[in-house]
Amino acid sequence: VTAARLGDRSLFPALEPRAYLNHAGVSPPSEPVRAAVAAAVEEFARRGGAAVEGAIRRKARLRQKLAGLLGAGPEDLAFTQSTSSGIIDVALCFPWEPGDRVLLFEGEFPANVTPWQRAAALFGLKTVFLSLEPFERSDAEGLSRLEEELRRGARLVAVSAVQFQTGLAMPLRQMAALCARHGAQLFVDAVQALGAVPLDAGALGIDYLAAGAHKWLMGLFGAGVLYVRPGRAPALRPHVAGWLSHEQATRFLVDGPGHLRYDRPIRSRADLVESGAMAEVALAALEAAVDLIAALSVAAIHAHLNRYLDELEPELVARGLPSLRAGEPERRSGSLSVRPPAGVELARLRQALAERGVACGTPDGLLRFSPHWPNHPAEVPEVVRAVEEALRAVR
Ligand SMILES: Cc1ncc(COP(=O)(O)O)c(C=O)c1O
Repeated sequence: VTAARLGDRSLFPALEPRAYLNHAGVSPPSEPVRAAVAAAVEEFARRGGAAVEGAIRRKARLRQKLAGLLGAGPEDLAFTQSTSSGIIDVALCFPWEPGDRVLLFEGEFPANVTPWQRAAALFGLKTVFLSLEPFERSDAEGLSRLEEELRRGARLVAVSAVQFQTGLAMPLRQMAALCARHGAQLFVDAVQALGAVPLDAGALGIDYLAAGAHKWLMGLFGAGVLYVRPGRAPALRPHVAGWLSHEQATRFLVDGPGHLRYDRPIRSRADLVESGAMAEVALAALEAAVDLIAALSVAAIHAHLNRYLDELEPELVARGLPSLRAGEPERRSGSLSVRPPAGVELARLRQALAERGVACGTPDGLLRFSPHWPNHPAEVPEVVRAVEEALRAVR
């Protein structure tokens, strides 16, 4: 297998767009990911149920690898199906009291709002929306506004590590410290960060974190990870538990008669949310994807993406597309969003770009460029030319 190299897309021979800049949406699978999927399917094809043993070993390896990526212990992680399923697990299992306040942000991706609204309806909580604008101006302003609200009392703050619209990397360390000072816990939707922005959940003091595999980790749909800070899991109420959530859950299938019981305790670890059969093929894809990310290092990927965006941003601004990218390196992610000119229909602009070989995203009225490690800054002039032509075509 060819090794992964920053700026080299030879592991993506099937990828059609000449500049694929929508990793914040969906990433294409690399050759190693495709090979891992094929091998996992082959294993089930050859061995049927006997392939489960290999799948169990794979999950143990993957848990270690994700723990390395996240600065966590493997016992603090659980596999999920998606970012959403991890968020829903915490929203349903959190030890709420009626009247608890949950702080949310206006402008967040809805995946990090809906489950908290549902929990509010179920458990009698109060949701409070804060604006992201103070954070867009500066960390200090955002944090001071957050603290003002925390002083009124809150059980939980839910935020994205990186905002899907602006690409703003939130000041998680300071947010976690403020939450701790005011008796609240911090939930982080990390799907716009994990794989592209260094994120050490343990060191940052985050309480819960969820992410899916198909964006910056470059895995496939159907797998995700949930982190629960050490010490938090025993307080969770196991509202999403299933047959595999018990201690020694599979004994009755392997150890002879007398082990079929319904009173085994539910694990008081993060993996209590692993309730039943899983998308083993998506987990196989995720293992290969994480191997590539880890080999390159997230810090090196982050620096590479920002070298790319440093080239692209001024060219777009010079062509009348104002940038929403933060000025400070530590507040930047792998995404650059610009505002399209007034009167331009965004769907047509995106289509015109796609026809010129440039794939990008259009979150809530913005044009978002999100390269990943295979993109090379040398493709920027071509992207800029495509933008110029596309703008002419749709005006
Ligand atoms: C911040 C954020 N959270 C969640 C999601 C999607 O969640 P899921 O993987 O559950 O569909 C997205 C997708 O764009 C996102 O940007």
